Amino acid sequence: MPNVGQRPGRRVFIETYGCQMNLADSELMGGVLSTRGYTAAPNHEEADVILINTCAVRERAEERVFGRLSYLLRFKNERPEVILGVTGCMAERLREVITERAPYVDLVIGPDAYRRLPELLEQCQESDADPVIDVKLDREETYKGLQPERRPGISGWVTVQRGCDKFCTFCIVPFVRGRERGVAPEEILAQCRDMAARGYKEVTLLGQTVNSYRHEDTDFADLLEEVVKIEGIERVRFTSPYPTDFTPKLIATMAKHDKICNYLHLPLQSGSDQTLETMKRLYTSEEFFKLVDDIRQAIPDIAMSTDIIVGFPGETDEDYQKTVDALERIRFDFGYLFKYSERDGTFASRKLPDTLDEATKGSRLAALIKRQEAISAEIFKGRIGSTVRVMVEGESRRDANDLCGRSDDFKMTVFPRPADRELKPGDFVNVRITDATSHTLLGEIID
Ligand code: SAH
Ligand code: F3S
Repeated sequence: MPNVGQRPGRRVFIETYGCQMNLADSELMGGVLSTRGYTAAPNHEEADVILINTCAVRERAEERVFGRLSYLLRFKNERPEVILGVTGCMAERLREVITERAPYVDLVIGPDAYRRLPELLEQCQESDADPVIDVKLDREETYKGLQPERRPGISGWVTVQRGCDKFCTFCIVPFVRGRERGVAPEEILAQCRDMAARGYKEVTLLGQTVNSYRHEDTDFADLLEEVVKIEGIERVRFTSPYPTDFTPKLIATMAKHDKICNYLHLPLQSGSDQTLETMKRLYTSEEFFKLVDDIRQAIPDIAMSTDIIVGFPGETDEDYQKTVDALERIRFDFGYLFKYSERDGTFASRKLPDTLDEATKGSRLAALIKRQEAISAEIFKGRIGSTVRVMVEGESRRDANDLCGRSDDFKMTVFPRPADRELKPGDFVNVRITDATSHTLLGEIID
């Protein structure tokens, strides 16, 4: 039966900024549109609809989107019939600014309006006047019954939780993504099974505080137990857990299953208890250390990474030094280190003046990056001589004679293409490590 409102041949190009959740949301939008006859355009030049799926977590992410929008204005001047839409977190947060700074945008929709996308695009076509806006947040929406459009591949995402209830004082996410909701386990498992049937080998379960996942009686450990049972899925990852939502049951589940990747991204944010308290993170540095120790005790070879914010309001030299000390103590395999960026509407922007000057923030960040890079290099070089199991992803970007893939503990590993056999993405090989940088292991296949 033909779908109502189907427009065969309309081509959509979705450009994604920000986190993996946004990449997953873009696949969701692609899925919604494909049921109405839209197909994916390979680039914006060949599209009838261009959607920019945006991130609002830091100012720089937003500036990049405004830069991109002004670039697309020229294109829109040449082809005014093209619909240009801004979707996601920044659309939710900055609808007025977007329509002021980029009045040529036709559509502005937030992360809970994707189900209505086809109708909203219809409205854009019908009216040349003001942009069509839909930024209503919805306490219930988990996109039940919608199938994301995934490109063929070996590794993909499944959103298991939307929104966030933590309200860390620096963070815009709870305001732009609304309240925490768990997706029904049947939906998640159906997606994972579908991916396995299509040749996917790795799934990453996504949520803002993914381990606080709950749906009726199912908690996150229960969900993992079901996902690992799916035949064909060889690796299961998840991101990002919140430290105080880690239960002994979850740690035991991770330790029990080889399929659960030996890598964990565990955001610390700061090593200072004072700063953690003003950030309204719900743990102290000692509690975080204890959690890391417990996880390492249960899974000794686990790799870890973290997120850190430097220059949070009120951060003294001593507070900053505690963050440096925490990185030294824990020795994360790598870190995503950010300068504090004030976000309008958050508690911090209302109550905690951004006291530190840019130079101080900048020099703290640079020194921390330097220190973490050195730690990462030591850890990566420490792997020289060992053998790691790697899932082949494809050709190395640097040299077509090399292949690359991630180790079980998620380290990018590069090795020469074997002469005696053809390897394809998703194959597993054992690689003996002969050299390393602070981000990559280098080696050769041993079998
Ligand atoms: N719960 C999510 C957090 C999303 S934001 C997750 O763990 O993925 C991702 C990271 O961006 C945060 O962990 C934090 O380190 C950083 N971040 C968030 N708000 C920020 C801000 N206002 N300034 C600088 N960095 C920020
Ligand atoms: Fe943001 Fe804190 Fe939630 S960092 S996404 S409010 S856990």
